[in-house]
Amino acid sequence: MPISVADLDTPAVVIDLDIVEANIARAQATLASHGLNNRPHIKTHKIPALAKKQMEAGAVGITCQKLGEVEVMADAGVADDILLTYNVLGDAKTERLAALIRRLKRMAVVLDNEVVARGLSEAGKRHGVNIRFLIECDTGYGRNGVQSPQAALDLAREAMRMPNMQFEGLMTFPTAKPETRLWLERALQLLGGAGIAVPVVSGGGSPALKSCGDFPMLTEYRAGTYIYNDVMQVTAGGATFNDCAMTVRATVVSRPTEDRAVLDAGSKVMTYEQHYAKGFGRIVEYPDARITGFSEEHGMVDLAACAKKPKIGEVVSVIPNHCCVVTNMMDEVIGVRRGVVEAVFPVAARGKVR
Ligand SMILES: Cc1ncc(COP(=O)(O)O)c(C=O)c1O
Repeated sequence: MPISVADLDTPAVVIDLDIVEANIARAQATLASHGLNNRPHIKTHKIPALAKKQMEAGAVGITCQKLGEVEVMADAGVADDILLTYNVLGDAKTERLAALIRRLKRMAVVLDNEVVARGLSEAGKRHGVNIRFLIECDTGYGRNGVQSPQAALDLAREAMRMPNMQFEGLMTFPTAKPETRLWLERALQLLGGAGIAVPVVSGGGSPALKSCGDFPMLTEYRAGTYIYNDVMQVTAGGATFNDCAMTVRATVVSRPTEDRAVLDAGSKVMTYEQHYAKGFGRIVEYPDARITGFSEEHGMVDLAACAKKPKIGEVVSVIPNHCCVVTNMMDEVIGVRRGVVEAVFPVAARGKVR
């Protein structure tokens, strides 16, 4: 007996598989049309079956943010080419990295400082493996990354002199115009001038995916959010609400006043992520409603602007502000197609933050 999405108990995190597949195909086609390798970031979904769909569509490999995610994806046989976009520090982690390098055909990692480079080199020596590394460049975002093109050259040179270290290229997040382009052009000039080959230049971020052609130095692209999309992605101009695959199904459990509804999904499902979005998610059936705040298990909704208002017991679908964090909140995500449940995906890398 097919199960309708309407029969699901709430709260439930649901993904529309037609939209997921269209999002995967669109991104792959965009990147291929610019001759760019697609290396999707799996932190958005943390589900091996979806990473496999991305690989089948033409991705060259995947990106992970944490070693635990790499381990889950490697165990599931998703890809034999994985990039870890995070500084790996400490013996507990370098041991795990060395084990992964032995298992995978190609495993690369980023670094932005000499301390990380030394730890990696020592692990490489201990295990008799070469560590392929990319220099992470802060081209304007203000997170990890060397602070200038000259610093990228200096760190590349220094790390290359360390035993068992193999320079593969440059990585940045996110790609933003025009600063990323100018920064990378200068770094590539300096590396070229020093006679250092740069096989990989890795850019990323879903909002700039459509304009990836404006960064001609890139060889590969890492997008994550594009597979589901969310309010943040729509606000950034990278998608429309029709491209949003993930919704949180939530029941109206109370209508304490004429203008207030309370949902059975709060910060323990949707999280407090807001960034530049207004409110805390978009209710598909009531676009004029505003989710004004959460308790852990309550979502407070202001209905003042709604001509029609939901009844107690009604189930609504909420597009979350940031899909990647909602992924980490529930054990499973339900795949539906045209309103019918097709698959229940355990979020295998949920909580793998080490
Ligand atoms: C290093 C890195 N690469 C790629 C991405 C993917 O970005 P987006 O989710 O905007 O597609 C992220 C997102 O956090 C990231 O941190």
